[in-house]
Amino acid sequence: DLDSALSSIQQAGSKAEILELRGRFVGKKGWITQEMKGLGALSPDDRRTRGAVLNGWREQVLNALAAREQWLEEQEEARQLRSERMDLSLPGRLPTVGLLHPLTRMRRRIEDVLMRLGFSLAYGPQVESEWYNFEALNIPSGHPAREMQDSFFVDVPGLVLRTHTSPVQIRTMQAYEGRLPIRVAAPGFTYRRDDDATHVPMFQQVEGLVVDRGISLADLTGTLTVMVRELVGQEVGTRFRPSYFPFTEPSVEMDVTCASCGGGGCRVCKGTGWVEILGSGIVHPTVLKNGGYDPDQVSGFAFGMGIERVAMRLFGLDDLRLLYQNDLRYLERFQSGG
Ligand code: PHE
Repeated sequence: DLDSALSSIQQAGSKAEILELRGRFVGKKGWITQEMKGLGALSPDDRRTRGAVLNGWREQVLNALAAREQWLEEQEEARQLRSERMDLSLPGRLPTVGLLHPLTRMRRRIEDVLMRLGFSLAYGPQVESEWYNFEALNIPSGHPAREMQDSFFVDVPGLVLRTHTSPVQIRTMQAYEGRLPIRVAAPGFTYRRDDDATHVPMFQQVEGLVVDRGISLADLTGTLTVMVRELVGQEVGTRFRPSYFPFTEPSVEMDVTCASCGGGGCRVCKGTGWVEILGSGIVHPTVLKNGGYDPDQVSGFAFGMGIERVAMRLFGLDDLRLLYQNDLRYLERFQSGG
């Protein structure tokens, strides 16, 4: 009947349903249409009254269908507006700003400190001759020190990827042609066949070389202590240990107090409370000679500092490899440090 027709229209949930109901009630074979077909069998009077009733129903059904359809359209439109609404109070998306790699910042900081101490910068090739990398530094072939520094060899005989920045010592002395004083710092990449939490195969060193008349071990310890305090902080603890390098005599290694555990013992310092950050010593007479200087007239000190070592100390890192994996989420954590 009419009431149930109207109520099913009221409950229609989609345009497709509206279409279906329209067919069912007022379509060619729809309920009201069928009823109207039956009018012909009635008497003229009955036909008029019945016709008027059916027309009224038809109109009510059509109105209800139109109203429900409009309501559904409005709902749909409102839903769409809601889903497309913009929240103008949201903060904007900031463009990503490029940053220097933490190790680049570290290297520049070391360069700054050394330049303030009177050093100028010098550079040498990363693919180096064995002569500059070994022989000239008093490391003859067959010398155990060559095994100490596991080298990467190049396909050209006589060339290696430099295992340290020390060959720049020789290149600098040659370039200075006997002039004094020499005070240079040589930063750059170096290569060894190492790979663990505290060693990567490609790493960076800063070499320092000072040559003048009367340079002593006191100049070395004094300069390096000031340098490290400027770099790491005035409160850092430092110590020198006797060591061995073929190109310095005597040789000393410098340690700084461990930041990661405050001396309590951790992976970085292996429980000793100290981290080694550089090797150094008084330039060996043979090395001075190879650079064209007379060891009876002049003396010098040299050091080679691991940039990653200083960064690990400063940032409190216990796995160096992370700095070279180029995961921005990790690297951006050092935005303000260093
Ligand atoms: N070249 C040494 C190394 O790579 C460091 C060093 C440099 C030691 C200069 C003494 C003098 O470990």
